Amino acid sequence: MKLFVSEGNPQSLKVLAALDTAGVQCDVQFVNHEEKLVPFLSRPTLPVLLLPNGHHLFSPNAICRYMFEVSGQEWHEACDQWLEWEATELQPALLQALHMAVLQGKESEATKVLTGPLTYLDQSLSKATTPYLTGEVVSVADLVLCAALQPIMSTPTLTSGEHKSLKVWFDHVASLQSCVSASHKVLQGKGLQAMKSFMQRQPAPQSGQCQSSMLPCNSSSAESEEGERAVSQEEMEAAVLIWNKGSNVPSATTDRLHPILPQEGKRNILLTSALPYVNNVPHLGNIIGCVLSADVFSRYGRLRGWNLLFVCGTDEYGTATENKAREEGLTPQQICDKYHAIHASIYEWFQIDFDFFGRTTTEKQTEIAQNIFWRLHKNDFLVEDMVEQLRCEKCQRFLADRFVEGTCPHCNYPDARGDQCDKCGRLINAVELKAPHCKVCGQTPVIRSSKHLFLDLPKLEPQLEQWLDKSTSSGDWTANAKQITRSWLRDGLKPRCITRDLRWGTPVPHPDFKEKVFYVWFDAPIGYVSITANYTDKWEQWWKNPDKVELYNFMAKDNVPFHSVVFPCSLLGAQDNYTLVNHLVATEYLNYEDTKFSKSRGVGVFGDMAKDTGIPSDVWRFYLLYVRPEGQDSTFSWADMALKNNSELLNNLGNFINRAGMFVSKFFDGCVPAMELLQEDKKLLALVGWELQQYIQLMDKVKIRDALKHILNISRHGNQYIQVNEPWKKIKGGDGERQRAGTVTGVSVNVACLLSVMLLPYMPAVSQTIRDQLNAPHSCVNTLLFDKGAFTRVLNAGHRIGNVSPLFQKLEVEQIEALKKKFGGQQPEDEPPNKKTPAQNAAGHTPSAPAMEVNASIDPEKARQLTHAVAEQGEKVRALKAQKADKAVITAEVSKLLELKKQLALAEGKSPEPAPIKGKKK
Ligand code: MF3
Ligand code: ZN
Repeated sequence: MKLFVSEGNPQSLKVLAALDTAGVQCDVQFVNHEEKLVPFLSRPTLPVLLLPNGHHLFSPNAICRYMFEVSGQEWHEACDQWLEWEATELQPALLQALHMAVLQGKESEATKVLTGPLTYLDQSLSKATTPYLTGEVVSVADLVLCAALQPIMSTPTLTSGEHKSLKVWFDHVASLQSCVSASHKVLQGKGLQAMKSFMQRQPAPQSGQCQSSMLPCNSSSAESEEGERAVSQEEMEAAVLIWNKGSNVPSATTDRLHPILPQEGKRNILLTSALPYVNNVPHLGNIIGCVLSADVFSRYGRLRGWNLLFVCGTDEYGTATENKAREEGLTPQQICDKYHAIHASIYEWFQIDFDFFGRTTTEKQTEIAQNIFWRLHKNDFLVEDMVEQLRCEKCQRFLADRFVEGTCPHCNYPDARGDQCDKCGRLINAVELKAPHCKVCGQTPVIRSSKHLFLDLPKLEPQLEQWLDKSTSSGDWTANAKQITRSWLRDGLKPRCITRDLRWGTPVPHPDFKEKVFYVWFDAPIGYVSITANYTDKWEQWWKNPDKVELYNFMAKDNVPFHSVVFPCSLLGAQDNYTLVNHLVATEYLNYEDTKFSKSRGVGVFGDMAKDTGIPSDVWRFYLLYVRPEGQDSTFSWADMALKNNSELLNNLGNFINRAGMFVSKFFDGCVPAMELLQEDKKLLALVGWELQQYIQLMDKVKIRDALKHILNISRHGNQYIQVNEPWKKIKGGDGERQRAGTVTGVSVNVACLLSVMLLPYMPAVSQTIRDQLNAPHSCVNTLLFDKGAFTRVLNAGHRIGNVSPLFQKLEVEQIEALKKKFGGQQPEDEPPNKKTPAQNAAGHTPSAPAMEVNASIDPEKARQLTHAVAEQGEKVRALKAQKADKAVITAEVSKLLELKKQLALAEGKSPEPAPIKGKKK
């Protein structure tokens, strides 16, 4: 084990203290802040723990936790809660405070920022019956919190004299040898100044956001005025004005009428999500990267009143399909039909609301692709050249780019694919690969030459650059999209071959290239156009209308160059007034637990399995969007999903909405009571209004994950408001008190209604349920049509609500553990540590699944089915045994089980016998 830390990095303090306390054997190395130790993360991060199996842990709290676990110490659930609080509530405030204090010298403001969390901690400690956070002895929670607070607490100007209990606890923990020595190593007695160079490298915290989410929910510090975003009198008055506009909500937009076409005077948005490859089942990473993100944005756009068309479909041509067909003993067309249906049903389950979900194997595709081709030809943007191609003599075929692997000629990454290197991101011509080998059989391919057509990218480059300058400066391009595109242009564009020696593709119409088809990356994006054409004959109103239409493309980052360079060049060269991308939204990668999704090893959750978990589609959506890899890689974790479900959905959001509705039902006979606003209520209106505005600003910029946090902030405010005002007590009081209870209830239930609207893009079913329970008028979904959004009274006094019932269910630990087991959450030991699944593209799968390097007969799909079957049969056998069934019956079922296990082993490429595996290169 090796721990990498850096000087002046406050997160290094806690891991060193934890290491020391846990007493585990581990090398420690100090490196500089910019050191990039985890290869698949886009930003350097420290501290990092390198595990014996080659994996990295890079979340400081996870490292601390791990140290305690390996040292065999007992784990308290309370520790998890404190670690979660530290990461989500304390850290944002600390970062902001340190930023102010260290870099801006604003110490008194820094103190203010910290008041909320410090008060919360202080009060928790003062109420505790034990000296430490989770009991009689120091736990990892004490160490983590103490170390986090160290820089602040040891700076007298930053601590107020209050917080007595906190001080006692801190002095005690901080004087432990492990903390003293960690602090000495990291801060070197220089206090805050030691952190300057570290802080300078941190992105500046977003102030408003951080402050507002800082107050711990359900905490007794809820009453404290400090630490909250200050609300001015003017803000409150403005909020009241808007609140009273309730009756003027813009009238309901009518239901979508197909075909949707651009309209004069509206914002016309054409929205696409990358077309998933048809030959496999998408995993969660694919779903969040493409279709789900695009769906949220399209639902949001409709709430905003934009005239929007959302199209997608399956990407069906290419060798990958041919191969899958061979594997399954079907024709390519049959494979396409089968998997197109599978994709469609998965997306339906996830409630992806496409206007049209088409496919690329259609006549329109041929027609439009060939038309673009001829125009490129006529305009002289195609060049002919002899191509040396790799051919595997053993497999008797030309190797498509993705079927050859080797060493990247640019960066020497050993696992580059024939079309692209996943390390440096550059495109590769397969023949340039060093040490190439056939992916299927492992043999070294030979080079053969034949004549091919190339898109003359160098000739199109000036036009492209001009377009990109305009598009990237006026549109919303994610940082990764801009950066990947820039690096492409910086390297200089080269002609790209657009033809292939294959059968399963759009035929090249040119007589000299009769036997060839278009390369799938030339063809696929044209799918967006042809799918639209299959949706409506008037497709040109969308696609040849750049002045009136804005095009949004959603995808995972490995798809960027095809959408920002190659496809725009095809369209520019066609000179047919095509609509080009205005907004390019690319996600980073989603990891699965602490590894990556892997089809072949059956690790991770695939789209078709999500529904078998019993967890509702909306909750899946919520969690995926909550961890959306927006701006940086992120991780799907079962435990975290349960935590977020139980804390955010159940305790925060669901709790608030349910209470608001219950008060109306129980105390006011189901009728919204009259509301007389006092200062307290006006303040809530202002706070909610502010969160709503943040939400809209972020959503407009496609910051889907960030915007979600503001929804949760609103229900936190709401819970706090109810908690402070105690309507359940006031309802029993005199007239004045009862009226207060009424106002608080009426305001709360209106907040609940607003939440249902803001939630609609994320959790459409829950959103509808809330509106049904509140019997809300349909027009309430129009509140986002107000320019900057408005929190306005849509449920007036006298409005009768429907039946209220809980919205969410707790996810139990056992349930989650079982799911985690089932889907391979355990760390597979044989996994090469730093290898990143290359394509979390639209469908996620690449033929480069590691298993194929080992054994061509491995069948992941079958393995997955068999895993299910084995589990089921196992259950059956256990049940029979438990019932003490007839021995012959049991024996028969056991032998079925053994047979299934044998088949599974074969499908996984393992030897069914426990004997050593012969002839495999593993
Ligand atoms: N099928 C590709 C993938 O899964 C994405 C194609 S997007 C398209 O990576 F627009 F080009 F079709
Ligand atoms: Zn081969």
